[in-house]
Amino acid sequence: MFYDRDLSFIYYGPTRIVFGINSSRDIQAEIEALGCRRAVLVTDPGITKAGLLDRVVKSLGPGCAGVFSDVPQDTGIEVVNAGAAYARKCGADAVVSLGGGSVIDTAKGMCVLMKEGGKLEDFEGVQLLTRWQTPHVVIPTTAGTGSEVTCMAVVLDKRKGQKIFLLENYNTPRTAILDPALTEKLPPLLTASTGMDAMCHAVEALHSIQREPITDGIAMHAIRLLVRNLPICVNNGSDLAARGQMQIAATMAGWAFNNSMVSIVHAMAHSIGAVAGVPHGIANGILLPFGMEYNLPEAAESYALAAEALGTREKGMGEIEAAESAIRAVREFTVRIRHPQRLSEAGVSRDQLAQAAELSVSDGAIIWNPRPVPDSSDVLELFQKAF
Ligand SMILES: [Fe+2]
Repeated sequence: MFYDRDLSFIYYGPTRIVFGINSSRDIQAEIEALGCRRAVLVTDPGITKAGLLDRVVKSLGPGCAGVFSDVPQDTGIEVVNAGAAYARKCGADAVVSLGGGSVIDTAKGMCVLMKEGGKLEDFEGVQLLTRWQTPHVVIPTTAGTGSEVTCMAVVLDKRKGQKIFLLENYNTPRTAILDPALTEKLPPLLTASTGMDAMCHAVEALHSIQREPITDGIAMHAIRLLVRNLPICVNNGSDLAARGQMQIAATMAGWAFNNSMVSIVHAMAHSIGAVAGVPHGIANGILLPFGMEYNLPEAAESYALAAEALGTREKGMGEIEAAESAIRAVREFTVRIRHPQRLSEAGVSRDQLAQAAELSVSDGAIIWNPRPVPDSSDVLELFQKAF
């Protein structure tokens, strides 16, 4: 029995997907299709250096109102506020984000401020907005965050040392252009870690207390695509067929968790990211198997589904046995793609764990965890195991 008899849910995924090698050349037509004329392009210095910005600026032509390229690895409130002020000055009526999660989330924050005015701090919260925000077309340059199809933005509040969340259906990107050619130059470690973020979205969507049949199906296929294609991309970044499948996997995992939500692993990743600066994908990749172990036996049914997708569920295996095989498979997979295994390898010091554990239990994601987390001592123990 997979679901309660009185199951009820809403599935929401309004983003138009444009997929294909060199599909980013269609950006101008996609902006016009949204009834817009001039877009501000949001990106980061790495993308600019890699030459990807020039390509998209050229494709946008006169539709490019300006470029805001000052987005750091973990975006902050002040970055979003500055980006929105710049977009207003340019007279932009749309936003194009070209980059990874930090760039996309910056652009999401800008979309709200361009429409509603004010400062980002005023909009922290869940489904506060009552009308569609500034149209946003996302061109991801990694395959992992899924942010191209989610209603969420995560932005660092430096003063509080904590990440703030905006969850707004009305701010979901209108269009995502998945162009595998733009992920070709992504180095192996970033390919692996962003891919593990997607894996984590899929697995956490499966074990969430808000899981439902549609997200289960989407998450399982995302896992299948990830298992087949992520090792290929890590070993041969120029394999554009595999790169494309990874982008689809990341987008599907994004749809899954946008509806089912994520839980303990993401709560811990957000917190260790805020406290020790561990990149989101690396934190998730390290913490995922530990979070799965913590959630047994409550999530056994979910992980048995993960085992099917991972290809480790053998005939005659019971649910727990299958779930354990999934946890082993995830761990072995991270070794295969040469992903860091321990937080100590990722620049974390042991004395930072207690603060991160405290933050984790106040992170919104924790409430969706299948095993209730009573206090920070359980999380601290997990951090210590993963250290
Ligand atoms: Fe994530």
